[in-house]
Amino acid sequence: MNELKTLRVGILGFGTVGQGTWKHLSENESAWERILGIRLVPTRASVRSLNKERTVSVASNVLTVDSRSIVDDPDIDIICELIGGVEEARELTLRSFEQGKPVITANKALICEHGDELFKAAEKAGVRYAFEASVAGGIPIIKVLRESLVANEFPLIYGIMNGTSNYILTRMENEGASFDEVLGDARELGYVESDESLDLDGVDAAHKAVILGYLAHGMWINLKDATVEGIRRISNEDLSAARELDCKIKLIGVIRRSFDKNFVSIGVYPALVPMNETIAQTDGVFNGISLTGTVVGTVVLTGRGAGQDPTAGSVISDIVDVVKGMQGQASPPKLLHVTPDECEPAPLREISGSFYLRLSVDDRPGQLAKVAECLADHDVSLATVSQTPNDEKQSASIILTTHQTNEHSIGLAINSLEKLDGVKEKPVLFRMFDPNGFIEK
Ligand code: HSE
Repeated sequence: MNELKTLRVGILGFGTVGQGTWKHLSENESAWERILGIRLVPTRASVRSLNKERTVSVASNVLTVDSRSIVDDPDIDIICELIGGVEEARELTLRSFEQGKPVITANKALICEHGDELFKAAEKAGVRYAFEASVAGGIPIIKVLRESLVANEFPLIYGIMNGTSNYILTRMENEGASFDEVLGDARELGYVESDESLDLDGVDAAHKAVILGYLAHGMWINLKDATVEGIRRISNEDLSAARELDCKIKLIGVIRRSFDKNFVSIGVYPALVPMNETIAQTDGVFNGISLTGTVVGTVVLTGRGAGQDPTAGSVISDIVDVVKGMQGQASPPKLLHVTPDECEPAPLREISGSFYLRLSVDDRPGQLAKVAECLADHDVSLATVSQTPNDEKQSASIILTTHQTNEHSIGLAINSLEKLDGVKEKPVLFRMFDPNGFIEK
């Protein structure tokens, strides 16, 4: 009998996902032989410290602190970059391409910042750069968007792209617990990134939204052209007020496209999502992404957006695809590249919607009228108003919702409100998500 060919996998970064990838590759050894007709063997992995205790135990001679030595090792055929961070990961990825080695990654920050350069380098080297695990962990969103729904254009893609912030909001919502209390628990459970701002300030979700925006529209949106807000200003009062409006507050990434004007807009922000949307019912650490395509209508995918096993599953699905490509089997369609005359970031005046505002004001005659007048000066029309007095502080909390306006006008209105006599702190502003909302025509 002929000896089966062996392809060897090198893993850069043996953290949670790296170890999961090793574990599932090893455990399912016979499956790879069956479906690919080869032996697929995790062979070496790089670590920051050789002495750290790990949940997946491997022979000590397969670990190294020198990631480059794995990239350069002629016995290693496929590289998994699971190291995180940007600069070192970029350098190792480019080096792998130069060696003619395909790279599988879960690194959304790297793709968001250097995707254009890296995809071009992979194409030039004639190797695959695969990134299913970079968005929404175990949910196969990249493949669905790029392959299964290839007949569509996408006026709207939106959803929950960060599990940690969704966990925090869900517990605040269900238990009335405070933000700080739940954040403490999330830290203990190991959910929060070591740079907490990635989870709490919307940055991690924005990296993922930029990748989806690129896949859907062929354009790398710079984060400075995107609205990126986090969950730190959401209070239990906001969550109750949202419930009264039959909504839940979720941190969502929203990618909209106007095909009339050729604008694309990307935003990550807390929004009041109508309770009947699947995304509003996606709770805990789960992610959920709703794709509205011109052919299929709306498809919603929900599932585990992080964690060892789900994310390793996505890495391995990419490894299998890469091997199929190496064997001459079908590759995914080429990635789109549009030029600025075909599509550009939407200016704020073109992005419209309704808004939720919470203001803390002095409780005195005429204060509400002044707030309404300030909004009217910026053409912002009120839809609902409610006020709760706080007698001890002689202040009141005013919660307003607006009719449809645009991001430019509401931004000016908020600046004026902040300076208005009797307004005690920076107003809290959330968007009201409308699945039929639009970029202004
Ligand atoms: N910190 C991320 C999250 C991990 O909470 O979703 C997966 O990217």
